[in-house]
Amino acid sequence: MAGHQSPRFLNIIGQAVVIACLFFSGPVLSKTPKATKKPSLMQPQVATPVPVSALKEVLDDPDAYSAAVKEGAELSQACTKCHGVDGVSPELEQFTLTGQNPVYLLKQIDRYATGERRGPLMQRIFENMSAKDRINIAVYYSSLKRTDAASTFLSPGKELYEAQCATCHGENALGNESTPRLAGQHAEFINQAVARYRDKAGPRIDPLMAASIVNLKELQIRAIALYLTGLR
Ligand code: HEC
Ligand code: HEC
Repeated sequence: MAGHQSPRFLNIIGQAVVIACLFFSGPVLSKTPKATKKPSLMQPQVATPVPVSALKEVLDDPDAYSAAVKEGAELSQACTKCHGVDGVSPELEQFTLTGQNPVYLLKQIDRYATGERRGPLMQRIFENMSAKDRINIAVYYSSLKRTDAASTFLSPGKELYEAQCATCHGENALGNESTPRLAGQHAEFINQAVARYRDKAGPRIDPLMAASIVNLKELQIRAIALYLTGLR
């Protein structure tokens, strides 16, 4: 008898499971189309990097260039609060935007825009900025020149700089498409930025940068920073 009951019992359970499956699969199935729709509405727009060629077209065309400087100057109103009126922040820890290579600047802006470079403030500003505006702002800051008095710090820093940094950042520390201009940066910014790379403590990790400074002592970094801050 017991042998009879048990398959029937299993049968009932089996049917219950099938019914339960049908019942629950209803909402699950009907959710599927919604599930594909919803994220597309919620998804933050992921900005695409601006092709460097688009920037170069502007740089090569005098009319487009002066229009970009003008439009960039207006856009820069949104930056002065933190980056200073001419891209030189009164905060000594802050990066100087003035006179940067435009390709370098645009790359950083795009890195924030795509989320590759972390920085909540900057990411929020750039992720919704059009490609044209990103070009304009890069062109504007690259067009600026530092006008404050140039003081020359001829110190051991010059020698150290030439030995340890110049291959990548340029003989006069003017930077290029992949390295930032260091001439005229605040000394404190350099100190902290270099220490962050050395200690791998910052959001930016660059193995080559880190390798080139790993043996530098605190005072040597300061000497380099002092030399660089006096360059124009
Ligand atoms: C509310 C303050 C604030 C405003 C406004 C602001 N920035 Fe920044 N910016 C920062 C801070 C803080 C950092 C450095 C930390 C980071 O990466 O978030 C930074 C970093 C940057 C960098 C990277 C510098 C480097 O180290 O390579 C660029 C480029 C930049 N900002 C450009 C701009 C531009 C252009 C605008 C205007 C459209 C702007 N910022 C507006 C605060 C600000
Ligand atoms: C092998 C090439 C190389 C050498 C040598 C090098 N750097 Fe750099 N440096 C870079 C690159 C590339 C970047 C940009 C890295 C990035 O995008 O994170 C950079 C970035 C920097 C920054 C910017 C940090 C920021 O937050 O914007 C500073 C400051 C700096 N370097 C200082 C120095 C100093 C000082 C030396 C010499 C002691 C030096 N670098 C040597 C390649 C180099």
